[in-house]
Amino acid sequence: MQSLTSHGLTFPKLGLGTWRLSGEDCTTAVLGALDRGYRHIDTAQMYANEAAVGDAIASTAVPRGDIHLTTKVRWDHLAPADMRRSIEASLSQLKTSYVDLYLIHWPAPGMDLAASLGELVRLKEEGLARHIGVSNFTVALLKQAVEEIGAPIAANQVEYHVLLGQTPLLAYMRARGIALTAYCPLAQGRLAEHPALDAIAAKHNVSAAQVALKWLLDQDGVGAIPKAGRATSQQANLDAWTLTLDDADRAAIAALPKDVRCVNPAHAPAWD
Ligand SMILES: NC(=O)c1ccc[n+]([C@@H]2O[C@H](COP(=O)([O-])OP(=O)(O)OC[C@H]3O[C@@H](n4cnc5c(N)ncnc54)[C@H](OP(=O)(O)O)[C@@H]3O)[C@@H](O)[C@H]2O)c1
Repeated sequence: MQSLTSHGLTFPKLGLGTWRLSGEDCTTAVLGALDRGYRHIDTAQMYANEAAVGDAIASTAVPRGDIHLTTKVRWDHLAPADMRRSIEASLSQLKTSYVDLYLIHWPAPGMDLAASLGELVRLKEEGLARHIGVSNFTVALLKQAVEEIGAPIAANQVEYHVLLGQTPLLAYMRARGIALTAYCPLAQGRLAEHPALDAIAAKHNVSAAQVALKWLLDQDGVGAIPKAGRATSQQANLDAWTLTLDDADRAAIAALPKDVRCVNPAHAPAWD
């Protein structure tokens, strides 16, 4: 399993997303993933499944220190006192004394970014989060966080897949050594609408999902966290590592639409 390194943080490029998993199904999926070799788990306060993820973390034979665990604070809990209460509640549910990466899940309209990032830095200094970062931040917001406020942002988790481009954001992040974690890496199933992906998949005797995933994992500074509840999906995503895409494959993927956004809530920022 290849890793990403960013501002002192090293974590596996491929992780398990857990949005929409809950209860025992979530615990079983996380335990199964850890058994299969996953060492990067992504959850969030907003997913209401941290307790179920925590049950897996508490009962697995995999040592806590070998697992990269990311969680995120809700966009409406970004006032410093709310953020502190949030991480304390998350840690209690996750049954751990620290998370490896704590992210601001979404920028909030009208937020006091300096105050929120200041609190995030304090949580890091106190050891509740090993590293800190953001999610759904545009180039403009990242510039503010990194250049004006000087926050030690290790990662920005954003939607990125074969049907959504992130060229300017990725260029900015690479220049500053900030990792990009791609969410919805399989475009939540929308890959099936594009026969070009099936053609690449048939050529290599793999699935379109594996093609889309390996296209991301091949990129410098990029990781991906497909949600996979089924054991077969978890294994298929691990097996994607063995796929070798060639220039013709990459050219066919480059020709696909790059404006398909799966997640765009009312509180989303103005995308770059
Ligand atoms: N920061 C944010 O704002 C944000 C927003 C959205 C998502 N996320 C994170 O990113 C993760 C992934 O995004 P997502 O869950 O929205 O979408 P996704 O990973 O693009 O798609 C998940 C779907 O793909 C299926 N799947 C997984 N592997 C497959 C394979 N090899 N072949 C065929 N189907 C496969 C899953 O099925 P099964 O589960 O049935 O196996 C599930 O239905 C989330 O779980 C969450 O952790 C973060």
